[in-house]
Amino acid sequence: MFQLIGASSERKGGEMLISDKMVAAINKQIGNEFGAFLQYVAIAAYFGNESLPELAKHFNQQAMEERQHAMKFVNYVLDAGGLPEIPAIPAPKSRFSSAEEAVKLSLDWEITVTKQINDLVDLAGKENDHTSHTFLQWFVNEQLEEVSSMDMLLKMVKRAGTNLLFVEDYLARRGTRPAAAAEAT
Ligand SMILES: [Fe+2]
Ligand SMILES: [Fe+2]
Repeated sequence: MFQLIGASSERKGGEMLISDKMVAAINKQIGNEFGAFLQYVAIAAYFGNESLPELAKHFNQQAMEERQHAMKFVNYVLDAGGLPEIPAIPAPKSRFSSAEEAVKLSLDWEITVTKQINDLVDLAGKENDHTSHTFLQWFVNEQLEEVSSMDMLLKMVKRAGTNLLFVEDYLARRGTRPAAAAEAT
């Protein structure tokens, strides 16, 4: 059994299951997930502006997944008795010179998020916080999927070159990925 950690000074009553340090680290990650949400909306808008509706749809779906990730963290902090605090979100990048640049940015982002999740898992381990450690495993698995599907899309875009209708066709035939569809409900 884990020990209850003393309530933070900002919390009125009740006990927190996780440390102030973990709450602060998760609050930062809530900002990163909302940052990803905004970045993917911006990329979807770029593709919409380029008249590539399937790529736009794909990135809007990715954006909604990022919003769900942020909300998962918000609800976790609440369940654990802490106060979720949403940090300022930097403006996303909106202008790209090519589809490849936009998808490469997304892949780099997913790799960065994977490191951020690993750091949270490390922190949970250091704090002997089994509650957070178990909660974070969902994100560890999710990042494997996110990195591998974005890497696949980048390869498709590179192979297509200037003929992005090839990618549009691929996305249209593939449809919404089952995991995303299930989560959206
Ligand atoms: Fe995410
Ligand atoms: Fe992601």
